[in-house]
Amino acid sequence: MKIELINSEKSKIKNDLEIVVLKNLKSIKDDKRKQLEKLGFDAKEAQSCFLENKLYIGSTSLSGEDLKIAFSNAIRILNKTKYKKILIELVSNKKELNLETLVEGLVLGSYKFTKYKSQQIKDSKEISIDIKDSKISKEDLEKQLKKSLDISTSVNLVREIVNTSPEDFYPKVMAKKAKEIASENNLECKVYDEKYLEKNGMNAMLAVGRASRHESQLIHLTYKPKKPKGKVLIVGKGLTYDAGGLSLKSGTGMVSMKCDKSGGAAVLGVMNSISKLDFEYEVHGIIGAVENMIGGDAYKPDDILKAKNGKTIEVRNTDAEGRLVLADCLCYAQDEISDIDYIFDIATLTGACIIALGEYTTGVMGHSEKLKKKMTKAAKQSGELIGTLPYNRYLPSMLKSEIADIVNSTASKAGASITASLFLDNFIKKENKNKWLHLDIAGAAYREKTWGYNPYGGTGAGVRLLLKFIENIK
Ligand code: BES
Ligand code: ZN
Ligand code: ZN
Repeated sequence: MKIELINSEKSKIKNDLEIVVLKNLKSIKDDKRKQLEKLGFDAKEAQSCFLENKLYIGSTSLSGEDLKIAFSNAIRILNKTKYKKILIELVSNKKELNLETLVEGLVLGSYKFTKYKSQQIKDSKEISIDIKDSKISKEDLEKQLKKSLDISTSVNLVREIVNTSPEDFYPKVMAKKAKEIASENNLECKVYDEKYLEKNGMNAMLAVGRASRHESQLIHLTYKPKKPKGKVLIVGKGLTYDAGGLSLKSGTGMVSMKCDKSGGAAVLGVMNSISKLDFEYEVHGIIGAVENMIGGDAYKPDDILKAKNGKTIEVRNTDAEGRLVLADCLCYAQDEISDIDYIFDIATLTGACIIALGEYTTGVMGHSEKLKKKMTKAAKQSGELIGTLPYNRYLPSMLKSEIADIVNSTASKAGASITASLFLDNFIKKENKNKWLHLDIAGAAYREKTWGYNPYGGTGAGVRLLLKFIENIK
């Protein structure tokens, strides 16, 4: 799909079809309105109607998420047709649509995972957005277009990574992808293998990947602007497959566990956009890329692991592996980088998060109410859904172990997303407690259905949210 801005006063372009988004039929001339009504179109959300050379789309409103969903509906309909040159008027009936929102809807809505289809369909749509009558200068609109394309393209990149089969996307492939992103975006990229993990006491992460034929990789990407105003760290769970380990998942529970790399993939998505967006903060993206499998060499329930910070962990369930990988990665991040302003981890950590907040919502946990508020603001602005889950003084005791410092999985499933987060809290240094948030994207990152502008499969959850958060602090 190509998107360009045009000014119809200067250029007379020919188009095959125009997309018209409406929240009601008031602005439509009498005869057209009657025709549309006759066809059963009354501009309600998700309604669509072809009439002459126009595709009419109904929408609850002409802004925000409504607008994104409307344009994503439009492009999905058009992708099933042969219309090639498509026109959108930025200002119609005196109402100016937000260009960034509109473009996000188009790009996110048009994504489809076709990598493994024997027949590839070429996306050859040409979208012209007519900016005549806009109150914003062409230069600023071009900037908006570029920004929106950069971000949406990164979201689609994350979706592609998440959807790729675990046979094709394993830890070393993740490291290769990180290096590619680094060289395209002028980022630093360091990749460490298992020898490094061993040498540096990262035994929790090491244990999780032991039964896999794929070597675990610790990936560290850095974006350094000229005069950084501060430092943001993002640590991602990159489980390229989670079979559950010896505490093996059920047949149905295992399906879709290629999605367990979504946190790491989101880190790649953020890093892929950051330099293009001229952020003034130094941003570090750290990924623990590991595969959790079974075998004679697998780590076991009853094992005691010593993490990088010296804490000992009694393994009660090998399927609670993400927190073990993150524990060491969080230690690595805080040992290697000083004077941190913000530290986030992002992970498909617990099924319980889906039970608590529903399928689409990211769970946000942390000590600082102020920080959670800032993340909530970024969520509203970016269009991602988040919900906060509260700590309390009683829950940490659920992680007590009789024989080690803590257990990796609590005896009761009650509040399991919160106790998982409290497990991670054991690996956050005192000085960073109020700078840290944990994002559980177990539901939001991957769904086996389409919802809004999100396709079947990977959604790219976390990318727009974190980019907006960073943009807000700059
Ligand atoms: N990767 C899973 C969590 C998950 C579940 C992600 C569903 C996406 C969809 C995680 O490693 C896991 O297995 N968690 C266990 C933890 C339990 C053993 C304490 C879970 O949620 O059941
Ligand atoms: Zn697991
Ligand atoms: Zn997992």
